[in-house]
Formats: sequence, C-alpha cells, structure tokens
Amino acid sequence: MKILVLGSGAREHALVLALRSDSERHEILAAPGNAGIGRHATLVDVDMLDPRAVTEFAQENDVDLVVIGPEAPLVEGVADALRERGIPAFGPGKQAAQLEGSKAFAKRIMQNAGVPTGRATHAHTIAETVAALDEFGAPYVVKADGLAAGKGVIVTDDRDAALAHAETYLPKGSVLVEEFLSGPEVSLFFLSDGDTVRPLTPAQDFKRALDGDEGPNTGGMGAYSPLPWLADRFGSVQGFVDEVTEQIAKPVVRELDRDGSPFIGLLYAGLIITEQGVRVIEFNARFGDPETQIVLPRLTTPLAGLLMAAANGTLEDEPAPSFRDDVAVTVVLASEGYPASSVTGREITGLDDAESIEGVHVTHAATAHDGDRLIATGGRVLNVVALGSTFAEARERAYAAIDRIGLEGGQFRTDIAARVA
Ligand code: AMP
Ligand code: GLY
Repeated sequence: MKILVLGSGAREHALVLALRSDSERHEILAAPGNAGIGRHATLVDVDMLDPRAVTEFAQENDVDLVVIGPEAPLVEGVADALRERGIPAFGPGKQAAQLEGSKAFAKRIMQNAGVPTGRATHAHTIAETVAALDEFGAPYVVKADGLAAGKGVIVTDDRDAALAHAETYLPKGSVLVEEFLSGPEVSLFFLSDGDTVRPLTPAQDFKRALDGDEGPNTGGMGAYSPLPWLADRFGSVQGFVDEVTEQIAKPVVRELDRDGSPFIGLLYAGLIITEQGVRVIEFNARFGDPETQIVLPRLTTPLAGLLMAAANGTLEDEPAPSFRDDVAVTVVLASEGYPASSVTGREITGLDDAESIEGVHVTHAATAHDGDRLIATGGRVLNVVALGSTFAEARERAYAAIDRIGLEGGQFRTDIAARVA
C-alpha cells in the first residue's frame, strides 16, 4: 500500500513506525514530517492544511490511503476533499471533527446520545458565565468552545481566575462552564468506519508539566498502557473497555451518523472515572499524543489494514485489534521553558545510545537537521518509548534512555507510571 501520513509530531512518528512494522511492506510518505519521521518515510512537500493540495498530491502520486494525524487538517475539511475524489482517508470530515473542534457541539451530541458527561452551561456573556460559576461552585471548570491549542481549559478554585479565563475567550466566541469531576483519567481510542466501532486499549496521559501533577497543563508529558488498576473497579480491563464501547463510543458514532456527519477515523474518548461512574471529559477526533506512542507499539494487528478498513467502511470484516502483553511507558523530553515558551534550536545528542537499550525507541516530536546536528524545534521535542514485561522494567529502561539524551535545559517528569510500577 502507498500511504500518506499528514502531521509532524511524535504521534505521526508512532503511526509511521507502526505502519512500518506490518508484515506487508508499504511505501510511506509523510507531510511535513520531522527529522525522525524522515528516517522511516519519504518526506514530501504538501501543505497538509490545504484540502486541494493534499487531494491533488494523492491523486497524482497514486496514494492508496491518507492518514490524517492532527486535528487542524480535519477541521479544514481535508478528509471531505479526499473522499469526494474517491481517495480513502482515515480521519473524520469537517462536520464530525466538530466533536473535537467545538465543546458545545460535543455536549449536544453527547446529550442526544445519552452519554454520561459533566453538567455544563454554554455561556455567551460574562453575566451567563458568572451565573453558571455560582451555580456549579468551586472548583471551577471553564472551557473555550473552539480549538485553543491545548490552552482552552482552566480548572481552578480561584473564581477571579475562572472569570478572567472566560473574559479571554468570550470575545472570540463562547465558553462552557462545567461541573468539576474528580477521579483518575483514562484515554481510550476507537477506530470507527462511521458505523462499526473497534476499541484499542486504555492508556493514561500525564497532562501537568511537573511531578506529582503539579504545574501548568501541557500537551502531555508521558503515558503508559495498559491500566491494570481498572480491573479493581470493572472486574477486568476488558470489562471497562466493553462498558465504554457500549455506553459511550457506539451511541456517539450512531448519533453522529444520524446527525448526517458519520465519524470515520479515530474517536478519542477522554474519560474520568468518578465515584458515580465513567464520565466523558472530552472527545478528540484523532489519535492522542503521547498515548499513541505507547498504544501502537503494543498493537499486534496490522495497522494499515485496520485504518484502510475504517476508511472504506469495512471494519466489521476485520479482526478485532489485539495487543501484546508487554507494557509500555513513554516519557516526553521538552524544551526549556515549555509550556509557557520554548527555547528552540538547541542540539540533541545521544539518541543512538538511548535506543541501544533493549525495548527502547525514540519518537520525534519537534526535531530538524541543522547540518550534521539534530536540533529541537519546539516545546515537546521527543519521547522515549520503552516496552517491558513489567512496569518496573519499562520505567527503568525509559529513564535509563532519557538519561543518555543530551538537550541543554531539557525537562521531563520523573514519575510517569511510578504508581503502577
Ligand atoms: P480537556 O482539554 O477538555 O481534556 O481538559 C484538559 C484537562 O482539564 C483534562 O485532562 C482534565 O484534567 C481537566 N478537566 C477538564 N474538564 C474537567 C472537569 N469537568 N472536571 C475536572 N477536571 C477537568
Ligand atoms: N494527550 C492529549 C491529547 O492528545 O489531546
């Protein structure tokens, strides 16, 4: 198969690596990619945000399948444009991508589908925001309605800070004031062809910048999979997966279809397990980052076949995705200053040395070549991914590997998966 992967992060690097590990040999192209992706795919110069450019490129180059990594091209309608020309695309169209692009749209779909989520008020003015904050009480949760590059959500005990957050986003649209939910968070991915839904395996992301879940929210500083502790509450990890599939993923996909916007691609359920049961915090319309980096290395079913079947509406005919018993841990190395700002252009060293550790590989998030040097070009620079037969082993490998990597001012969390090890 000839596959074009759109995106330039560690998630896309993980997708490319997983496609590469299929027993069938694929020709893989990536746009724009990064230095790490360039080792495993041919980088091509196509503007991934331009539906026409992507479609023309795919047609001219006989691409069999386009896999859309990030949300921005989805919201731009790249998947719609491809499907209009009969090119298989893994990723929802513009309308279904509103499940991620608009928190208000997502709430409406959830309400219609009867899916458990926090109570929320959609506020358009400061007065409505104040009324909702006082109705729900502290801790306050305020979310920008549209895409906000991971900065749209505030959870705080400080009513003034909650109001200030709303004041930032109200001029650009509306906000959602939500009831505070408490409990462990789980990310669960589903492949969907618009009708059939197939779960992958649960993962946990560490969203705060600092150890002990302190500091500001980030794109995610690390993750691990599977989540053995789910068995305490749900009998088994599979029991949890089955419950979320039946009560959340299937009803949402059915509702989107009824709404005239079938969901073809990756449905990411961001869940919180409260005392009262599982609740949806958010949906994303794409693979999660960094969860993908630890979910896909555990996948034993060939990925290209699954993505193609989702794109073609034939997921029902495919085997259910299965996963190896090995556990996986990933630790993100970020630039100095991340997430507030990021010092870029610094040299990265020691990757070969890090990858020589058994069970370890590195996925690149923001890297480029500068002559002979490899340099950091963004906030989250790379992830170390380690597999092991136990979490203690995987953690030991991941942290031994990150210690071998040089990046001046580089920062990482030291407590990823510590509680399960
Ligand atoms: P989101 O962008 O919606 O995933 O929100 C970012 C983070 O804010 C989540 O991962 C949660 O940790 C937190 N969060 C969002 N909504 C709530 C809520 N209703 N109650 C508690 N925490 C929340
Ligand atoms: N890991 C969070 C996200 O991908 O949105």
